[in-house]
Amino acid sequence: MSKIESIFKKAKREKFAIGQFNFSDFTQLKAIARASKELDIPALCGTSQGEASFFGKTNAVALIKKFREKEKIKLYLNFDHGKSYKELKEAVDNGYDMVHFDGSDLDFDKNIRETKKIVRYAHKKGVLVEGEVSKIGGKSALFNKKAEKFTLTSLEKIVRFIEETEVDCIALDVGNIHGVFTEMPKMELERISNLLREVSCFVVLHGGSGIQKKEIREAIDRGVVKININTEIRVEWIGAIRDFLDKNPDEIVPYKIMPEAEFAVYKKIREKMKLFINK
Ligand code: 13P
Repeated sequence: MSKIESIFKKAKREKFAIGQFNFSDFTQLKAIARASKELDIPALCGTSQGEASFFGKTNAVALIKKFREKEKIKLYLNFDHGKSYKELKEAVDNGYDMVHFDGSDLDFDKNIRETKKIVRYAHKKGVLVEGEVSKIGGKSALFNKKAEKFTLTSLEKIVRFIEETEVDCIALDVGNIHGVFTEMPKMELERISNLLREVSCFVVLHGGSGIQKKEIREAIDRGVVKININTEIRVEWIGAIRDFLDKNPDEIVPYKIMPEAEFAVYKKIREKMKLFINK
């Protein structure tokens, strides 16, 4: 059993969740590592397709390995919302610990076929696969409007998808959406318990930014083991850089500017880790 699988098993049993924190810049990755080391809590680091192509898959794998093997910090790497077999095969071959295939834009049977193909390949290499059948909308940004409401996918369809593909984790729609909105949607968290009565898959909560603490805790109590956060990290990162440059408009030295961004992201991740672990 892979390390990350045993962490998810423990999380499900003991009712805590692991954060997946997305990054595309080294200050963000250092901030995740610092929070994880100080709290001694494992973390998944996530790269979407855009983030991975900017940062470089091999750079991401090499740095996670360095933090884990040399510094004994419990960081793992997930490829977030991969849209093709080719992209995810490359992530697996490069050493990602986990991959998420998002086939939610595909027709249901095609999504099953493509997800199965990835599961077969990844499992041979001991890599976990997260699947997605019900589209989780929005994007990791700040919106000056109310979140739109999506029609939720029937649990029967999700159960069939999990049973046929044998995915390890499922990105479940419970009203969640990527991004932060002036008004967040109402969550239907009982779907987590209802799904877990049917299958033993690990449940993942996407769109973790902007969700109320009370709802996060309820989702974990109902069995969610991974919560993805991106928007709130981006907001902290850019906010700290903007503030610093407002106060120091002539500064051009990266190592004087970027520690502010790293510290802001570190504080946000620390806050999320404590909430997810219930410390
Ligand atoms: P947020 O941007 O809402 O935090 O969602 C992140 C996410 O779910 C990445 O998969």
